Amino acid sequence: MSPTSRRSSRTFPGTGRPSPKKSWTGRSSFASFDGARISSPARSPHTGFPLVPTNTAAHNEGRMVSPPINPCAPRTAIIEGLPFSARALLAPMDGVTDPTFRDLLLDLHDEGVLGGTFTEFLRVSAHPLPRHAIEKTLGPRGARRRLGLQLMGNHEAHLGETARRAAELGVQLIDINFGCPARGAAKSIAGCALLADPSRMRRLVQALRDALPTHIPVTAKIRSGLEDDSNLEDLAKAVEDGGAALLTVHCRTKKEAYRDGTARWERIARCVAAVNIPVCGNGGIEEHAHIEAMMRATGAAFAMVGRAAIADPWVFSGHRATTDESRDFLARYAEDMLERTQGRMVRVAARLKQMIRYWKAAGLFEESRSRWLRTKSPETLVAAILRRAEMEPSCPTPPAKA
Ligand SMILES: Cc1cc2nc3c(=O)[nH]c(=O)nc-3n(C[C@H](O)[C@H](O)[C@H](O)COP(=O)(O)O)c2cc1C
Repeated sequence: MSPTSRRSSRTFPGTGRPSPKKSWTGRSSFASFDGARISSPARSPHTGFPLVPTNTAAHNEGRMVSPPINPCAPRTAIIEGLPFSARALLAPMDGVTDPTFRDLLLDLHDEGVLGGTFTEFLRVSAHPLPRHAIEKTLGPRGARRRLGLQLMGNHEAHLGETARRAAELGVQLIDINFGCPARGAAKSIAGCALLADPSRMRRLVQALRDALPTHIPVTAKIRSGLEDDSNLEDLAKAVEDGGAALLTVHCRTKKEAYRDGTARWERIARCVAAVNIPVCGNGGIEEHAHIEAMMRATGAAFAMVGRAAIADPWVFSGHRATTDESRDFLARYAEDMLERTQGRMVRVAARLKQMIRYWKAAGLFEESRSRWLRTKSPETLVAAILRRAEMEPSCPTPPAKA
């Protein structure tokens, strides 16, 4: 198929560029990200899971194999072999997506709304990670919920052994981080530093694939490039060639960091066009409506939400939280963190500050954010959150949108 024959007349918001029509399922767009409404009525004879239509052309050319069956996947999995129950996913976020935050979000949304979550990255360097480190990241309920464990590193054997141990602990999906721009990752040639070497990326994905039983999918999360996006397709193909079952693309380059206005959804569509595995689009989802808009514009099979989920944990459903609901969420987070950390106030306060930095639901912290962030005493901060102190606005429900 020539590149032009894939084009439709749709354009990306704000770019005026045409968007590719093809999606990995062969559909031009998704009706909804609500799994209940869009899943195919056809079901797998092996698992009873709904089946997503396959890309017939790719199958015919022998380029695509059916994903292996994951016995741990939820019964409502919408793409066979992946442990996700809906198309909206929570992004891995260091310092945020700990077991407490993930569990609160999973409790808040049913399976048809929030499809799955990812851990913060676990760095694998000088040796494979011990089981207790993996267990701590998973949390008490982690491995049994719709969750991917994210690893970051560049040592094939150590990554493989860590993944194998994680699988023994019940992990349903292993993701590898090719997106972290932090200096530490760059120094040790991990995270997005690996984008400079697609063949090494392929080998790392393959090492994880080889280390795991076939029913545990390996996925990878990339940025769109280092300085620019000129070799984006090569990066996407490296992940596919390594045997990944899903590619997540954060549609900013390393150079663009997290800057506003740099999330370019057409990069997600380029990945959709380049590979025959499902693509998860990430970057620039700021509100509920953007989740579906991104999938429609790009043909991505999943949409991953990062900072907007810290700003408003209800972003997946579009529910407009009241002041009380917002305060309760933060208080429950603080309570649970205190329990899990055995009362480590400094740690709990640091995590709360990370959330306050982004929080928007019900307009809390609108006028007082910097005051909250300047609070020196961890005990004072945690106590104020626990007693549901005034966080503005004082009205019980958020003002209606104009
Ligand atoms: C505080 C923070 C921590 C992050 N940690 C990770 C991480 O551990 N692994 C990862 O792959 N990406 C990480 N990211 C990147 C996000 O997963 C996501 O790609 C990025 O925020 C873009 O999505 P957004 O525009 O929806 O926020 C992090 C982002 C933030 C803001």
